[in-house]
Amino acid sequence: MNGPVSVFSDAAGLEAVRGSGEIQGLPPWSAVLMVSPDHFRVQYAINPHMTSGDGALNEVDAGTARRQWEALRRAYEAIGYPVHVLPGSEGLPDMVFAANQAFPFPDGELGMGVALSRMRYPQRAPEVPLFEGWFSARGCRVDSIPEDGPCLEGCGDLLWVPGKRLILGGYGFRTERSALDRVSAAARAPVLALRLTKDRFYHLDTCLAPIDQHRALWVPDAFDSDGHEALKGTFRELLEVPSDEAEHQMACNAHCPDGRHVLIEAAASRTIELLRAAELAVIELETSEFRKAGGSVFCMKQMLF
Ligand code: ARG
Repeated sequence: MNGPVSVFSDAAGLEAVRGSGEIQGLPPWSAVLMVSPDHFRVQYAINPHMTSGDGALNEVDAGTARRQWEALRRAYEAIGYPVHVLPGSEGLPDMVFAANQAFPFPDGELGMGVALSRMRYPQRAPEVPLFEGWFSARGCRVDSIPEDGPCLEGCGDLLWVPGKRLILGGYGFRTERSALDRVSAAARAPVLALRLTKDRFYHLDTCLAPIDQHRALWVPDAFDSDGHEALKGTFRELLEVPSDEAEHQMACNAHCPDGRHVLIEAAASRTIELLRAAELAVIELETSEFRKAGGSVFCMKQMLF
C-alpha cells in the first residue's frame, strides 16, 4: 500500500478508506506460535477475571491447564497450521497468552514484520524481549515503541479484518489510542480505532472476533456509539454474543483462522449454536484454567504470516 495511512474511528473514516481502494489483499496465515504453559498461574490480578468473588486470586490446576493447552495445539495442527512453541519463562505466568506481546503484519514479498508491544502492567513487560528474540531470529522486521511511548498490547487489541489490509484497534484499558498511529505506519495499513467501554472486556479480543470479510462475533455492550456505527459499516453481519457468556465463558475470545473453522470455549453453548446456525465448523475446546486469568482460545496463540 503506497497511499496515506491513518487512524480513524467512525463510519465516515471507513468510507474514505474504502474509497481509496487500498485495503484489499491480506495474505492467509501460515503458522501458529504458542508459549508452553509450564509457568502459567494466577499470581497477580490485572483484569477483573483473575479473582473470585471474595477477592482471592484464582487457583489454576497445572495438569488440567497442560491438557487444555495441548488440545488447542492439536486443534490448530488438525486444520493445517504448524505450531511453533516458545518455552515459557519462570516468573512470567501470563506469557502463555502469546497474542499480546506483538502484532505481526505482512512485510514485502512473503515476509513478516511485527510491532512489538509495550505492556500496560510491569509484571508482563519482560515477556516482550523474549518474543522480540524469537521474531528477530527469524529475520522479521521489528518495530519497537520507545520506553516512554504509549502502551500497546499486540493482538489482544489489534485484529486484522480477514482478507483486508485493515486493522481493528481497541483502546482504553491496555492499548492507548496514540499507539495506533505507530501501528498504522509500521504495518502500512489503516486502523479503525474502537474505544472499549467495559473493564470486563479489557482487550478487543474479548468482545470482537472477525470470522471472515463479512462476518464477526461481537458484544455490543463493550463499544461506544461510534464503534457500533463503524463496526456495522465494516461487517455485513454482526453475530451478537450474549454478554454474560462473553463475560463468564470468554465466548468472544474465539478464533476463526480460515473463514470456516471456529475454535471456541466449549462452555459457550449459545454462541456455539449461533456459529452452527451460520454453517461454521465449530471446534469446541476447554479453557477453564486459562479463563481464570482472563483469557481463552484467541489469546493463547499468535498467528504468523
Ligand atoms: N492475565 C492476562 C492479562 O490480563 C490475560 C491476557 C489475555 N489476553 C487477551 N488477549 N485477552 O494481561
